[in-house]
Amino acid sequence: MAVRRAPHLPDAPTFDVRLAATDIAEALADDVRRGLAASPKSLPPKWFYDERGSRLFDAITRLPEYYPTEAERSILLERAGEIIAAAGAGTVVELGSGTSDKTRAVLDAGYAAGTLRRFVPFDVSETTLRDAARQLGQRYPGVHIHGVVGDFERHLDALHQPAARPERSAGADPLQRDGRRLVLFLGGTIGNFTPQGRRRLLADLCGGLEEGDTLLLGTDLVKPKERLIPAYDDPAGVTAEFNRNVLHVINRELDADFAPERFSHEARWNEDAAWVEMHLVARGAEQVRIGKLGMEVGFAPGESIHTEISAKFRPGQVERELAAVGMAVRCQWTDGDGLFAVTLAAKTAPAPTPAR
Ligand code: SAH
Ligand code: TRP
Repeated sequence: MAVRRAPHLPDAPTFDVRLAATDIAEALADDVRRGLAASPKSLPPKWFYDERGSRLFDAITRLPEYYPTEAERSILLERAGEIIAAAGAGTVVELGSGTSDKTRAVLDAGYAAGTLRRFVPFDVSETTLRDAARQLGQRYPGVHIHGVVGDFERHLDALHQPAARPERSAGADPLQRDGRRLVLFLGGTIGNFTPQGRRRLLADLCGGLEEGDTLLLGTDLVKPKERLIPAYDDPAGVTAEFNRNVLHVINRELDADFAPERFSHEARWNEDAAWVEMHLVARGAEQVRIGKLGMEVGFAPGESIHTEISAKFRPGQVERELAAVGMAVRCQWTDGDGLFAVTLAAKTAPAPTPAR
């Protein structure tokens, strides 16, 4: 006999864990071995976001100096109806979803229109993802929330391949698809990649989409450095603590003995590259032991670890970068102060192969 779920009960979210806690130490080990042996030293930014790092990032988004969150939110609130109508998507995917807080503007509009059937938040930070999925499940009864814990540089195939061992059946559709798809990539996170890394990520993403699927991309814009720097170096020191968090993560996961307070946070505007660079600069000479890697790392006074870039975009640049991977811009909006842009693009038909 068919059992029907009472209509007022929210569906329980399902999860596909591609990056379990046990894999994290291994992936981190590779990145740390490579990044700290190199000159200049660097670390990839995804390792900021353990539970504490995600909480610190959330605090950053509430700082008065960190304008991107409110600028992007104002665009989403104003344009959500248009976005939903243009995308015509039953499935909404969100890369680097975090708390999916601003995303609610878009989901609310899809829910009100009655078109939203499935939401797929995708993030490396498992605790944050699970909390967000639970809350969203309660907010949107009848919408299936399917969380993917993974690295969007390695596990984008989770968007079109069924989970090997789903924690709970992902439902009738293993292809993560219910109608057309709208992929959200917000917060300027695309700017945390180099131009080459951006191109690779966007090409991978676009390769998994079908004609008519859409991408909603949030990008921060070039502006005077007097406005940019405080957003990445706030007087309360929250961003500094967030940056140093990566050292706490390495200490814990790889049995290292960094003294995080002996590294100072620096945010530098690189005018030529049009990005803000985040560094952790050794105040004095340091000798650090990384137990699990059997590795010793020496720092000269003033030597830095480059931990992050946050690229800022010029007019026309987003269109060009999307066109290069087969996406055509449908609409682009900025906030009232022209600080931030949100772009809606659709996957176009591949160019016909010339007859031979
Ligand atoms: N979209 C949110 C959060 C942005 S912070 C906002 O706009 O405020 C960046 C988010 O991306 C974090 O939640 C972080 O955990 C996640 N993230 C960073 N690198 C990632 C990666 N390689 N794969 C998956 N998620 C990643
Ligand atoms: N995607 C955010 C941004 O580029 C990430 C971020 C904000 C960040 N503040 C930071 C990363 C400080 C490292 C350090 O704006």
